[in-house]
Amino acid sequence: MDFDTKAFRDALGCFPTGVAVMTAAPLAKASNLKEAAETSHIGITVNSFASVSLDPPLVLWCIDRRSRRYPYFAEAPGFTVSILASGHKAVSARLAGQGEHSLDGIALVPTKLGPPGLADSLAIFECARESVQDAGDHAILIGRVLRFSRNDGAGAPLVYFRGRYGALAQGEPPA
Ligand SMILES: Cc1cc2nc3c(=O)[nH]c(=O)nc-3n(C[C@H](O)[C@H](O)[C@H](O)COP(=O)(O)O)c2cc1C
Repeated sequence: MDFDTKAFRDALGCFPTGVAVMTAAPLAKASNLKEAAETSHIGITVNSFASVSLDPPLVLWCIDRRSRRYPYFAEAPGFTVSILASGHKAVSARLAGQGEHSLDGIALVPTKLGPPGLADSLAIFECARESVQDAGDHAILIGRVLRFSRNDGAGAPLVYFRGRYGALAQGEPPA
């Protein structure tokens, strides 16, 4: 069957989403403790984040298995989800760059479980890896939320629609 993958991708882009950055500590890649301690956390921009279950509290996102970042996230014991605000556009674009997984110079906030979140995010979810399921050229990462926080002062969310960043039509929603 002829299937136009580019047209499929463009059609999927008609579904407006928020934008999140996933962070993880690639400790599994370090061959010794010293190396592990010196290893920096990594990040990736995604719009495949979704809620799954309230009880138990589960979320998911999908990662391209061809991504250089895939082995780190697939093996990490957990990941942190940062829901981006409209002011995060440049950070989002940077962490979507080819090979641009470093968090150097990005404003971060520490978390209790390990991987830091991005400062001024709308919400942060600290997750333990529940499962990784292959799904075509992507993998579905399911995380169990162990801790979370909200920051209603962070303003309007960053929005992604038809391959471009945008904003909610009414601007910052009422609290
Ligand atoms: C708004 C936006 C959303 C994205 N969502 C995803 C996603 O859900 N899953 C994914 O694997 N890559 C996603 N990407 C692509 C990655 O951010 C990044 O470009 C890719 O991993 C780069 O390749 P590398 O990991 O090999 O360096 C998204 C990019 C943008 C700009």
